[in-house]
Amino acid sequence: MSAPSFYTRVARLYDALARRGPGVDTLRRTLADTLDPAPGATVVEFGCGTAANRPYLERRVGPAGTYVGVDFSPGVLRVARERGVARGDPGHLVRGDATRPPVRSERVDACCGAFVAGMLADPAAAVRDWADLVGPGGRLGLLDLAATSKAGWRALNPAYRLFVRAGSPPGTAGALAQSPATVQDERVAAAHRALREVCVDVEYRTVVGGFGRVSAGTVE
Ligand SMILES: C[S@@+](CC[C@H](N)C(=O)[O-])C[C@H]1O[C@@H](n2cnc3c(N)ncnc32)[C@H](O)[C@@H]1O
Repeated sequence: MSAPSFYTRVARLYDALARRGPGVDTLRRTLADTLDPAPGATVVEFGCGTAANRPYLERRVGPAGTYVGVDFSPGVLRVARERGVARGDPGHLVRGDATRPPVRSERVDACCGAFVAGMLADPAAAVRDWADLVGPGGRLGLLDLAATSKAGWRALNPAYRLFVRAGSPPGTAGALAQSPATVQDERVAAAHRALREVCVDVEYRTVVGGFGRVSAGTVE
């Protein structure tokens, strides 16, 4: 099953997990705090899903700022739009491919991706494209999950691997040369490495037992 069909099918279930799952508030707050977009900024989130990061990022950019969510799965965008309408502002939600940014560069101050690097075949290339989009001085941030190396938490790595497998579109495991969690860990590492290469003042934080990885910096 393709990723857009999968995420469309599980959109409401994913939304519940994305908002109320264990540790998600800490993860999303850490992304917004570390990305630290200026008040009034336009922030684009690639692979926005049901836009669970929207309130966290809107709090940072304030009423003069703009959140733009981009995703290739119509089902998650529908849920994000419905929630926006219920709150009185449908928001800016765009159907598009994170690896081919569909937004105009002169309007973007910050870009981020949360839990999406592990789904991209070449996450480093995507991060470089996002850096080009915001340009020098723009902010770039990533939030991802990967196996932990923290003592006391490593015992939970098998559960993390099962979680990654269960959350992958059916057929993913068979199509990969390694387990979905191993592939995700490698892609996450590549994405965060690419961010360090294109940014200065990079801040890297691990949260939620070392499973959550957050990087952010200013594009050089
Ligand atoms: C695990 S969800 C994360 C959603 C959201 N960022 C969050 O924090 O809850 C991954 C999302 O990335 C989207 N996605 C994956 N690859 C994409 C791509 N190449 N272009 C656009 N969206 C993509 C999927 O449709 C899905 O909604």
